[in-house]
Amino acid sequence: MPDNELNRRDFIKVTTGIVGGLIGAAIGLPAISYLLDPAFKSGGKEAWIPVGKIADMEIGRPYPFSFTRVQVNGWERTSTSHGGFAIRKSEDPKDIVILNSRCTHLGCTVNWKDDAQAFLCPCHDAKFSEEGMVLDGPPPRPLDRYADFRLTDDGILEIFYKES
Ligand code: FES
Repeated sequence: MPDNELNRRDFIKVTTGIVGGLIGAAIGLPAISYLLDPAFKSGGKEAWIPVGKIADMEIGRPYPFSFTRVQVNGWERTSTSHGGFAIRKSEDPKDIVILNSRCTHLGCTVNWKDDAQAFLCPCHDAKFSEEGMVLDGPPPRPLDRYADFRLTDDGILEIFYKES
């Protein structure tokens, strides 16, 4: 009988250890996974962004748009704002210039001014043409362009955003 009792004790110890281990794993693994998961995630580096209906864009008149991108890098989430102007050149929906509204000098946002027929930068008085060329001021180059764009079946103009 003493042997039997010892065996029963061992059995209870082993069973308790296994059940305890299973409960610990059931609680601990999801918690560890939850904590580590963001470290293996990254996202938001590129995407197609809708900027507006092509039908709403008047030919020859800059159509302003803006959007926000959220970058996820591990536990860090960064939100950045972007903007630009879509300028239709003709009835052809592909005949369009899409400019980034970020000034190429120090990054202020340019605005279209009808009376000047130009994009003006409020920071250091730069002036850009409707095509984005530098007309005046310190910017070293023309406004950047969103070169990749497409038109959806619903007539929505989308630009391809890629983190630079
Ligand atoms: S930031 Fe636009 S002119 Fe300086």
